Amino acid sequence: MNAAERIQTLRDTIRRHDRLYYVEARPEIPDAEYDRLWEELAALERANPSLITPDSPTQRVSGEPTGKFAKVRHDPPMLSLDKTYDRAALAQFDAFLRAKLPGDAVWDYVVEPKIDGLSVSLLYRHGSLIRAATRGNGIEGDDVTANVRTIRSIPLAIPCDAPTVEIRGEIYMTRQGFAALNRAEEEAGHEPFANPRNAAAGSLKLLDPREVALRPLDAVLYATGGLEGVVFATHTEMTRTFARWGLRTPPWQRLCLGIDQVMEAIDELERLRHAFPFEIDGAVVKVNQRALYPLLGATAHAPSSARAYKYAPEQAETRLRAITVQVGRTGVLTPVAELDPVPLAGSVIARATLHNADYLRAKDIRVGDWVEISKHGDVIPAVDRVVPAKRPADAVPFPFPERCPVCGGPVERLDGEVAIRCVNPECPAQRVGRLELFVSRNALDVSAIGGRMAEALVQAGLVTTPLDLWGLDPARLADFRLVGDDGSERRFGKKAAEVAAALERARLLPLHRWLFALGIPGIGLAAARIVAAPFASFSAMAGDPLFRDVLAFYEATERKVETKEARDLLAGEIATRAHALAARGLLLRDAPSRDFRARFLLTVKPEMAREMERFLRSDYARRLAARLAALGIDPAPEAPATPGTGPLAGKRFVITGTLSQPRETFERLIRENGGSVQSSVSRKTDYLLVGADPGGGKFDKAQALGTPQLDEAAFHALLGEAPTPPVAAPTGTPAPIQDDLFGDLA
Ligand code: IVH
Repeated sequence: MNAAERIQTLRDTIRRHDRLYYVEARPEIPDAEYDRLWEELAALERANPSLITPDSPTQRVSGEPTGKFAKVRHDPPMLSLDKTYDRAALAQFDAFLRAKLPGDAVWDYVVEPKIDGLSVSLLYRHGSLIRAATRGNGIEGDDVTANVRTIRSIPLAIPCDAPTVEIRGEIYMTRQGFAALNRAEEEAGHEPFANPRNAAAGSLKLLDPREVALRPLDAVLYATGGLEGVVFATHTEMTRTFARWGLRTPPWQRLCLGIDQVMEAIDELERLRHAFPFEIDGAVVKVNQRALYPLLGATAHAPSSARAYKYAPEQAETRLRAITVQVGRTGVLTPVAELDPVPLAGSVIARATLHNADYLRAKDIRVGDWVEISKHGDVIPAVDRVVPAKRPADAVPFPFPERCPVCGGPVERLDGEVAIRCVNPECPAQRVGRLELFVSRNALDVSAIGGRMAEALVQAGLVTTPLDLWGLDPARLADFRLVGDDGSERRFGKKAAEVAAALERARLLPLHRWLFALGIPGIGLAAARIVAAPFASFSAMAGDPLFRDVLAFYEATERKVETKEARDLLAGEIATRAHALAARGLLLRDAPSRDFRARFLLTVKPEMAREMERFLRSDYARRLAARLAALGIDPAPEAPATPGTGPLAGKRFVITGTLSQPRETFERLIRENGGSVQSSVSRKTDYLLVGADPGGGKFDKAQALGTPQLDEAAFHALLGEAPTPPVAAPTGTPAPIQDDLFGDLA
């Protein structure tokens, strides 16, 4: 078999397993086997770039963020549905059809769940997905092809050679996916999404497909747009065909032989309403015989052949007994309503989220109030509003705690966040979260410790602060037992040796990785690199007044002055301070400017200096320094890109497309090996490192200039090293079910 044939076979096989996994939820092969197929295909494609086609399973996630979405005109327009709220209106629908259709017309109905998401159009030409668009105003929508391609239940190719098949349906987020996303959003200090619909819409509108790929989006297809070369006699024949093509179709459908059966189906669906993994807000009733649609026509708003039947929203009223404040694993304080228990949408609710302090204040929610609650996304009970008429006379606004309810430490609202956080790095509520950050890939990369292990280590009291890892006895760690989701117990086993090896490697990792790993507020990986650069080592940072000097510089640039003398004095002070900082390598720019305050630009921003100063002066940092010293660890900044050292000495790189690991990893590798990274291709660029789906600009320019191009394998060859194993998530490894912790033990 030659490469082209093998590539074809691999693609077909992977597509089949994608479908079994994502569409039909009945995987046939273990994840490791799937990964092997994937790797083989990716390697063959790397070796034969000319054989890459856009519908290859490796090409789902493109590398470049789009600036904004292009507009797409819908032909025919994407209509909505007329809504009814009662049975009488459905009977009228039946009567309307009788009046409108010829006497000899025979039809039946199909009832389907009305999924609460956003409608999407998928255009397949000769079997390849070439465009995906949102509904927009029905006439014109956004081209969201790059984003939709990341949704794994949507096939990039279907076995249908018709010239045009436009398939329409709904993009949604499952309740579970929504809950997980919101948890992450709240822990990151962001405003949570109000419901799965908003979360799905927000995700689809992200400008970076790589981010979209991480959002739990899904799609169900239930209609057609423009068709050429295919005809479906009935709606049920159409959805059956969709299913055969590997598209996900409505998970529940009733064929009804008259309006009475429609009523029964609607009752049945309402009983099942909460059993679906996604939110449904009603039922859709459709005429099954598609040949009748042209006879029925449409209004500007909706086709006359279907109706939406909306279920009443579910709400309950109860008394707010108390407000407690929980502290999440990233230190975010979340107010929680303690309620008089009340039945709501299939369960009894005694607690509901109040989101954050702003929400409490904006809705003026007080202890003792009667409140209306609902389940957001059908899962998260939330307080929507108070019933003012029932407010007790003595109810007072809730005093939001000014200290952390878990550790008593100070709380703070960081810039640009709605969340109020506990900023005590040793707060017990944050132990697991801090450990997870510490071992994460861009931090100290102890990947054998996953989320479950981190939690177990903290729960067992073996780790209270991340440095405790170095005190763990490997034999004891190997015997450590983890309890899986299914209740089964497994030994940590040989992962213990991996942990030990990673901890040894971590001792020598550069200072910025350590600073990032410590979770200092506002110090991400890029900021950590900047604040680490001026110091010889971690221990040297502690006694150094550098950040105080930086803050004094910024203070001077803000100081108000009245007289010319004072102004000149201040200009002198700013210049002196800037030059002192320049000696430490902090000056980014010294450009003459009409405004003397704006002349100097430092690498370290004021917020970074403030947080670093606060961290370095804390008791926590003192204890940390003592323990690091006792462990014989004293991280130093990575060697600056000294020309003439390292295999990439003096080489300039530009990166484009999606690589198997975060871009920072490659940037770091380049810098650590003596090279530098540029943001755009010029004549001076030595290499273009090309990942999957390289966008236009950089790639085309490099082609035009004849800049040498490297794929990942060639890049690693240049470094003289083996590639590090890719991260699982965005590359196409099925994410759910899998638990890497147990992978090699299962
Ligand atoms: S058929 C001409 N079937 O509900 C529109 N729509 O409120 C054909 N929806 O715009 C729509 N589930 O986004 C149809 N099973 C289903 C649906 C469904 C959800 C959405 C769709 C539509 C909206 C109308």
